[in-house]
Order: sequence, then structure tokens, then C-alpha cells
Amino acid sequence: MDELVIHGGTPLMGEVTVSGSKNAVVAIIPAAVLVDGVCRIENVPNISDVAVITELLTRLGAVCTRLDDGSLEIDSRKVNKYNPPHELVKKMRASYYLIGALLGRFNNAQVCMPGGCNFGHRPIDLHIKGFEAVGATVDEVGEVITAYTDELKGGSIYLDFASVGATINIMLATVRANGVTTIENAAKEPHIVDVANFLNAMGANIKGAGTDTIKIIGVDRLGGGTYSIIPDQIEAGTFMIAAAATRGDVLVKNVIPRHMETLTAKLTEMGVTVEEFDDSIRVYAPTRPTRARVKTMPYPGFPTDLQALMVALMALAEGISSMTETVYDNRFQYVDELRRMGADINVDGRTAMIRGVPKLVGANVTSMDLRAGAAVLVAGLAAEGKTVINTMAHIDRGYDNIIEKMTALGASLERVSIAEKV
Ligand code: UD1
Repeated sequence: MDELVIHGGTPLMGEVTVSGSKNAVVAIIPAAVLVDGVCRIENVPNISDVAVITELLTRLGAVCTRLDDGSLEIDSRKVNKYNPPHELVKKMRASYYLIGALLGRFNNAQVCMPGGCNFGHRPIDLHIKGFEAVGATVDEVGEVITAYTDELKGGSIYLDFASVGATINIMLATVRANGVTTIENAAKEPHIVDVANFLNAMGANIKGAGTDTIKIIGVDRLGGGTYSIIPDQIEAGTFMIAAAATRGDVLVKNVIPRHMETLTAKLTEMGVTVEEFDDSIRVYAPTRPTRARVKTMPYPGFPTDLQALMVALMALAEGISSMTETVYDNRFQYVDELRRMGADINVDGRTAMIRGVPKLVGANVTSMDLRAGAAVLVAGLAAEGKTVINTMAHIDRGYDNIIEKMTALGASLERVSIAEKV
């Protein structure tokens, strides 16, 4: 296991390039199971979630080759199993996409309940409702979900909540189904559009991704092709917030500014200078940011995955800020860690009130999950003195080369293997 040791207090300065979207690639790799040919996926981030989902495909019979330029080539023609190994499935949330992908390919899937970040109850009832609406029978025995049918037939699904996972999983299950499937109240996150674009590039016929209504016109076959993953919205947001929290000046490159609009608006409201260019954003924060009120919402609202990071920034802002989490029922578990660094935060139900302090101080903290880990990382970069984050495992799941990228911006941080310390 590795720890992260940070010597904070240095403003981040310079340029950083954002990698491919984690949440897009962890859906697109399972989607490749549906492709009857070879697909080459470009701009694949080097993160541990990609390693796990790639291993899952390999264990099902796919041939996955990582190329020198960072692309991943997947040949799924020899996939011959629909029951991925439980121990690997449990390592990440996105392995639930194998249910939709395998059901779409074999009319059969047997997958255990996924793992991933724990921020409250995370059921998959909406995914199941979708599979049933297109003709599958879904049994849950213990922690294993079995979905099967003789034939998937197009149907209509209304999602009670605009679930990212359910929207993508239903697209995967129905892209090769017989007939037309309609998803109403679909989620609109950028990675949903990316998955639809990938499938369309392979020969699918999906319309409306990015709007409330997605129409999937089933096709007989998906062939191979090349597709490039969009930049990671949350990684971009992490660098933007880190620049503001350390009072730095950073040009974040390889971003889609439209995906960052709510964060840009909030940072601007806090007195941070944000300049948008075609595919980059500069964040410049020479003075202390001021308070803000934020509520997380499905896209195009403020992303829940930037909630903890934003709270870390609010902890340093002038005045009293508030953060309301509407997507998950328990996503403030990291607050104690920020308190250890001197933050003044009170949580009442789904709202945190944050009384900004002029400075945070380094401390020994725990990384509770992926984005909570990123939040303590950013707090540690802004804080005076030394911060030790107990594990890199969560951060490694979703951040490609984070230490190298932060170091290039002038930060002082290093990965220390616990074994080395003993
Ligand atoms: C995805 C993202 C995650 C992000 C989240 C919200 C991936 C791999 N993960 O997670 O980073 O935080 O979107 O933007 O892309 N829900 C149900 N029943 C369901 C499905 C969801 O009640 O069947 C609830 C969840 O408990 C949660 C909310 O809906 O409260 C949002 O979940 P969802 O949009 O599905 O998120 P994930 O796909 O799990």
C-alpha cells in the first residue's frame, strides 16, 4: 500500500493536460463486448479502474492490448462467458455495465453486485427495471444478479431518477435488440453522450443522447472501428479547484469548456478569474476566494463528483458557504478529515455549512473514497505544512499520473510505499 505525503502551501502555476474521461472509458470498455470486430479506443487514462475492467474483459475471453500511444485495442469476438469473476467485479462500481453488455450480446448475464465508492445506498433497481422492460427476466439471488431472455425487444422506460448507470446500461442492453427502445428522463452527463457516440461509431443507431429522451433503434451487428474518449470533466474540475484553493494560476488543457460551465460559474461567483478558450481553461486566483452556495444536481447541474473538492475550497473561502448534496444520501463522510486540517464545517442532513478559515494546516488524513481522496489532496496542497494521506488506492482509481501532473505545477508531493517505511 502507498501513502501520499504532501508539503503544502505552494500556489500551483503552469499548464496541465487532462486525460481521458474515467466514467466514459469504464463504460466504453464493457461496451466493446457488443462489438463483433476489433475496436481501438484512444485517449484511455492510465488508472486502476481501467486495469480492472480490462482484466474483466480478458477473463471473459476478449483480447485486450494496450498500445504504446495509450490506446487500447479490444477484440471481443472470442468472448464466450457471461459470468465475470466475482472478486474482480467487486473491485469497482462500473462493472455493473457488464450486465447490460453481456445481456445485449448473449441474452444472458450473471454478474454479482458491484463494489466501488461507498457513499450511501446505491441500488440498481432502475437498471433492472430497464432490462425487464425490454423482455429480460432478472433474478437476484444473494448478491448475484442473473438476467436472461430468449429475445430482447425494444420497449419504453421512464427513469424515476436520471441515473447515469441505468441510462448507459439500458443503452448497452438494447443497442442490438429487436425494435426501438426509448429512455425517458435519461441522464445527460457528458459520458453518456460519449458512450452513445462510441456505439454509433461502431454501427449503432442511438439518437438523443445528452437530452431527456434517448431513442435506441436496434441494429443486427456492431463492427469495429476507432474512437477517442472525451476529456475527463472531473479531473479538469479537480485542477481548476486546486488552482483556486492554492491561489495559483493554471491553464487546464484538453477540456471541453461547456462541460465545466457550472463550476466556472461558481468559481467566478467566488471571485476567481476563469478564462475560457477553445479547449482549455485558465484559473487565476491571486486573492482569497469568497463564499458560495452550491447544490449538486445531475448534469448540467453541479456534479456530485466535485462536491467534496468544492467543500475543500469553501473551507478556505471568506465567509460562510453552503453545500447541499441531492444525488447521494451520505456523501459527507470525508468532512472529519478536512476538520483535522482546521476546516470549520457542520453537516446537517444533506447540507454542509462551511465557515471559511484563512488557512488549513497539514495533518494525517484518510482517503475515504475516490473524490474524497482528491479533496484531501487539494486541501493538503493548499495547507501549511505536511499532510499524509493514508492510501493512494482510491486516488489511483481515477487520476492518471496525478503526482507527476501536480509536481509539474510546482507542488511538492510524493508517493511513499508503506513497506519502505517499515
Ligand atoms: C455515476 C458515476 C459517479 C457519479 C454518479 C452521479 C460512473 C462509473 N459513476 O454513478 O461517479 O457520482 O454517476 O453523477 O459513471 N439510483 C437508484 N437506483 C438505481 C440507480 C441509481 O436509486 O438503479 C440512485 C443512486 O443511489 C444515487 C443516484 O440514483 O442516489 C445517482 O446514481 P447514478 O446516477 O446511477 O450514479 P452511478 O451510475 O452509480
